[in-house]
Amino acid sequence: MGIVVANTALVVIIMPAVTRLTLTRFRNHGATRIEAGPSPVVLTGANGAGKTNILEALSFLSPGRGLRRARLDEIERTPHAEPPLGWAVAASLTSGVDVGTGSVPGAPRERRQVCVDGQTARSQTVLAGLLTVLWLTPQMDRLFLEGSGARRRFLDRLVFGFDPAHAGRLSRYEHAMRERSRLLREGPRDTAWLTALENQMATTGMAVAAARRCVAADLSRACAAGIGPFPKAELGASGTLETGLAAQPALPVEDEYRAHLLASRRLDALSGGATLGPHRSDFTVGWRKAGGALLAAESCSTGEQKALLLAIVLANARLLAGQATGPPLLLLDEVAAHLDSARRGALFDEILALGCQAWLTGTDESLFEPLKGRARFISVTDGQVF
Ligand SMILES: Nc1ncnc2c1ncn2[C@@H]1O[C@H](COP(=O)(O)OP(=O)(O)O)[C@@H](O)[C@H]1O
Ligand SMILES: [Mg+2]
Repeated sequence: MGIVVANTALVVIIMPAVTRLTLTRFRNHGATRIEAGPSPVVLTGANGAGKTNILEALSFLSPGRGLRRARLDEIERTPHAEPPLGWAVAASLTSGVDVGTGSVPGAPRERRQVCVDGQTARSQTVLAGLLTVLWLTPQMDRLFLEGSGARRRFLDRLVFGFDPAHAGRLSRYEHAMRERSRLLREGPRDTAWLTALENQMATTGMAVAAARRCVAADLSRACAAGIGPFPKAELGASGTLETGLAAQPALPVEDEYRAHLLASRRLDALSGGATLGPHRSDFTVGWRKAGGALLAAESCSTGEQKALLLAIVLANARLLAGQATGPPLLLLDEVAAHLDSARRGALFDEILALGCQAWLTGTDESLFEPLKGRARFISVTDGQVF
């Protein structure tokens, strides 16, 4: 528990953490229960033991498709009953809230159900207000080399902690865009409804772009302040609206976007999407190695890219630690093995200093030696924990 003194009032922040986690029919876990304190958790075990599966289960405590972006019907433990019984993840949080999520047999497979304190939530976006969850996985080694979608999702997840309403805005924006595409495809056109949807895209899209820009700038400043031996990442959000906001106030940028949507109906009807908008934005990351010219992250070595991602995640945790939301849950999959010992030590020190609940995995327990006595060590074997 951290204590923050604001003016004369004493504000007690309960560090956000999971105190109990239960996985039911979740991948290779039949029924796994983990009790945890607010301290870091180290999961060790052989390849295929089920360590990443536990992190994936935790990633479902935030909106979205989790750290593997899996289809919901591939998660239930196989071989499964016919008809399937569904899978579930349940967690008790330090805030006293109980969260449950999973697939519900008979319900549309694409939709993940969320329950908060026993009540079914209308949408998973409610999760963004309960807990911030960030992760780094070996697959993210390719984040800077592949399309902008994964980078955009990474930036949006960084925004959730500062502005939980961001998740709802994104979902309303995407919903309006899909509805507009459907109307354009189907024609004849209900122009009043099209205009209402474009209005929704313009207002929510603008708020999404503004939040991304603001968080990228704040994180850039936090990275510049220096986080141990991690690179000082320089960050930005690029896209039509984000770039527009750099030059003009929000209203004219929003009006231009609305006008663009109106003008591009014919084209968008053919392409089936929207040519411009925050669904196409990107998260730009660069680094001035040894103070030299700015180098795009994609030109850095794999190890350097990993260090850049860690710098960003730690900067985010540092900033959030000073706010009412508190630091995020960090899911660091196989991260320790790829860091040199100086960076590994700095990562552990930073996690302990922030007091955030980090869940770390690795095959080699000895790499986590500095955390002995300060973290909960759990051994994972064949979908069971010991
Ligand atoms: N739906 C499923 N049912 C049963 N086992 C699964 C399912 N999905 C994945 N697995 C198994 O989970 C194991 C991988 O677990 P994972 O957590 O990635 O291991 P690691 O400990 O190396 O991180 C693999 O053996 C894989 O076959
Ligand atoms: Mg793994």
